[in-house]
Amino acid sequence: MKSSLDEIAERAARDFQQNGYAVIENCLSQSDIANMKSECLTLIDESAKENKTNIFGNDFNVKNKYFLDSANRIGYFYEKFAINLETGEFLLPRERSMAKIGHALHCLNPTFKKYTTSDTIIKLFRKIGFDEPNVVQSMIIFKNPKVGGAYTPHQDASFLCSEPIRLAGMWYAMDDATVENGCLEFIPGSHHWPLKRRFVRNFDCDQDGGDFIKFDAPEIECQDDQFVSVPVSKGSLVMIHGLVVHRSGPNKSEEPRWVYTFHAYDRANSVYLKDNWLKETETFMPIYSNNGL
Ligand code: FE2
Repeated sequence: MKSSLDEIAERAARDFQQNGYAVIENCLSQSDIANMKSECLTLIDESAKENKTNIFGNDFNVKNKYFLDSANRIGYFYEKFAINLETGEFLLPRERSMAKIGHALHCLNPTFKKYTTSDTIIKLFRKIGFDEPNVVQSMIIFKNPKVGGAYTPHQDASFLCSEPIRLAGMWYAMDDATVENGCLEFIPGSHHWPLKRRFVRNFDCDQDGGDFIKFDAPEIECQDDQFVSVPVSKGSLVMIHGLVVHRSGPNKSEEPRWVYTFHAYDRANSVYLKDNWLKETETFMPIYSNNGL
């Protein structure tokens, strides 16, 4: 017998509280996936209007005003292996070179807004006790064949901190995510660990090429055998606790691994910190409020 949305969300919330993450299969239909992918291709076409090839990755982001300003718009970022770093020319087709599009899709793009505010998403946030999930950022992450890079171990609250920390990520798989193409890997239970470091705005800098953003501590040290790989089929949704340590490997396969992901903090029960790299703007979007909104 098919489970009801309420039962599915109940089970996911239990997994989330226990392990720091949860997988909900079949959240997107085949037509939802086709719709999302078609919108991705439209956005990739749009990117051609910009005469810029911003590279994605922390070493590049911290010095890049375009990255800083992408908080409240739709910005385009490319894989370093797909671009000639001297000239900015593409070494691969544009579609295959894209690393990420962000960070205000949830608000500015009607297709992605729809999947950010769906009944399933509302139910899940309610089940994990968020009184006012406020979406602060959204991204399409293209982990394209052979060039899609790894994400080192991190806690999402390092980038989007609130006091107290009440942050959750939602991660929709548009493709099967496998060990070969760089699925998520988690340290189960690590959402009980303290926040190890923060990625904060450096207000001393306002010149392109300077360090706009900095980490306040070194990378998290952990062992490979602490991680559990979490392959999921396309259409699945993964819920990610703001403190759970996770990572993903490079895409070594011939198959893409496209995802749409967004993060929300609970505005009713925590305060978003002013020195986060992504500052509060009009693109912050409440999904619902138990306080009468
Ligand atoms: Fe993450």
